[in-house]
Amino acid sequence: MKDFLIETFAHHRLLIVFLHVLSAVIWVGGMIAIRFAAHQSMQLITDPKLRLERASYTLKRLFMIVWPFVIVLIITAVLMAVGFQFRSAAMDANGTVINDYMMSIYNTVHIKEAIWIIMTLNLAVMTFRRNKADIALRNGNIEEAKNILGMISKYMVPVNITLSVIAIFIGVVLRDVH
Ligand code: HEM
Repeated sequence: MKDFLIETFAHHRLLIVFLHVLSAVIWVGGMIAIRFAAHQSMQLITDPKLRLERASYTLKRLFMIVWPFVIVLIITAVLMAVGFQFRSAAMDANGTVINDYMMSIYNTVHIKEAIWIIMTLNLAVMTFRRNKADIALRNGNIEEAKNILGMISKYMVPVNITLSVIAIFIGVVLRDVH
């Protein structure tokens, strides 16, 4: 399996890095556009029910667009993590560290993996809660929908934007290694 991943990476290195960066651009750029442009625009709608319906639908469209790229991001990330052979540059077959600097880089790859996991869990919860907000709206429960959507825009999307900016910075650090 490892050999297959290394070979696939060697043959399609440019495409894999391109898809990784493209996925990040769509995921992160999408969240920033929704939070700092669409959100402000929707605040101008005075009817609360209509405003919440638009907000919920906008989030639905965003989540539909980003989910496939979340998957592409992790596939390309695994291919790069294995393909660049960070582990074998950091330690030998017995797990003994042979290069301290490469070991710190290898750990940095793990930080990126943790960031991806947290971002994806956060996105899954947002997707689930947005569905709940939709149901609440259909049942005329405006207050519940407002609380759910407010939580998503005030905290959950900004958390993912912050994490992704950190992930991008780490990506630049990792690129600098070779
Ligand atoms: C599963 C975890 C991840 C791993 C193992 C990983 C690994 C990497 C590696 C090895 C590079 C360097 C590519 C090169 O040498 O050209 C990179 C670059 C990059 N990563 Fe990730 N990544 C992960 C998650 C993410 C996430 C969650 C984002 C943002 C949402 C992201 C955004 C980027 C970007 C924008 C670059 C390009 C940086 C540059 O070219 O200077 N990555 N990533």
